Amino acid sequence: MATRLKQLISHFSENEMSAELWQNVPLAPPDSIFQLTAAYKADTFKNKVNLGVGAYRDNDNKPWVLPVVKKATSILLNDEALDHEYLPILGLKDFTSAAAKLIIGSDSPAIKEDRVVSAQTISGTGANHLGALFLSKFYKWNGPAKVYLSNPTWANHHAIFKNVGIEPVDYAYYDPKTIGLDFNGFIEALKNAPDRSVFLLHACAHNPTGIDPTQEQWKAIAEVIGAKKHYSFFDCAYQGFASGDLDKDAWAVRYFVEQGLPLLVCQSFAKNAGLYGERVGALHIVSSDRETANRVGSQVSVLQRSEISNPPSHGARLVSLILNDAGLFEEWKRDIQTMAGRIIDMRKELHRLLTEELRTPGNWDHIVNQIGMFSFTGIQPEQSKALVEKSHIYLTGNGRISMAGLNSHNIRYFAGELDGVVRK
Ligand SMILES: Cc1ncc(COP(=O)(O)O)c(C=O)c1O
Repeated sequence: MATRLKQLISHFSENEMSAELWQNVPLAPPDSIFQLTAAYKADTFKNKVNLGVGAYRDNDNKPWVLPVVKKATSILLNDEALDHEYLPILGLKDFTSAAAKLIIGSDSPAIKEDRVVSAQTISGTGANHLGALFLSKFYKWNGPAKVYLSNPTWANHHAIFKNVGIEPVDYAYYDPKTIGLDFNGFIEALKNAPDRSVFLLHACAHNPTGIDPTQEQWKAIAEVIGAKKHYSFFDCAYQGFASGDLDKDAWAVRYFVEQGLPLLVCQSFAKNAGLYGERVGALHIVSSDRETANRVGSQVSVLQRSEISNPPSHGARLVSLILNDAGLFEEWKRDIQTMAGRIIDMRKELHRLLTEELRTPGNWDHIVNQIGMFSFTGIQPEQSKALVEKSHIYLTGNGRISMAGLNSHNIRYFAGELDGVVRK
């Protein structure tokens, strides 16, 4: 009896202790995108539309498993030689080498001269984190550690850099007056930043605006970056998704590499291979020579070891099969065109509905000029709110819509409701 009493007392005091221990932990706000998806799921309205999520949907609003991924999966399932051993710290070599060629270009001198260090990462987010972590430890900062982020940018960029002690600073990117690129503002920001600043650049299909610089603009950007000795931190989450062409979407990265500008690239296969949950990605750091690349690689390896030990194998094996087999690679390119093509069709149809059928006030050319999964509609936060609350159309407060959420069944409803809030 006495022992039981002692046990109870100690149990209660332990609970009290842990309650006190975490008393000061403030409640964090929920992630806005995931909250939006939860609200959409809970909504029972028949014609509800989800334009928040950054994932491809087919014309019936269903997730799409790429036929080439199904084929690669069945090859893996039937491969008796596969085991579940650990991968090397920097991941599956067949995957990382092919992934580097895919983004940097197989005939790039950087690849030929063996001066690209590649690490397999937990998708694009993991690549951003590992890249940021590496910079936080080894970059020769000119003053306090800061990263210049486009205003606006993927919300997670801020958190990723803050987590490793790098302060995010905005650079001008979006011009609300033209719903286009604030090119002059961008160039001014590059010129005004201290030499050797770090600039995060979206390689293609800018999230959230869908606005990319033209090739001529990229050249001008590269010129200032070179003159100021800035470091380019490329984030490439949508290769193939912007134009439907993997090479075209890699143009900016390859041009910067050709110019000999110091850079790294974060690469994701979540969107272009529909492997969101498999977390397949890579970080590529381009160095000036092989010997530097070796040293960089050794440190990336140390960081990766302490963070995740080694990356997961399944998704990397799938992508490796697709990238290294000529037949599967051609099939993948067709699948990418199917996704990008449907998105481009939705842009054209939305533009047609707004300008020709509904004659919605304002200029809607940005809908077709923007590129990739997302479109910045240019509507105000109260108009976005009205669409969510009154029309059951779920989008972020900044007026961003995922074009992949539109299809032939819901586009008319969306255009009509958008027309309604614009006229109000
Ligand atoms: C700009 C950008 N970078 C990186 C990512 C990372 O995605 P993931 O970690 O799923 O590859 C995303 C995803 O939405 C993105 O939009």
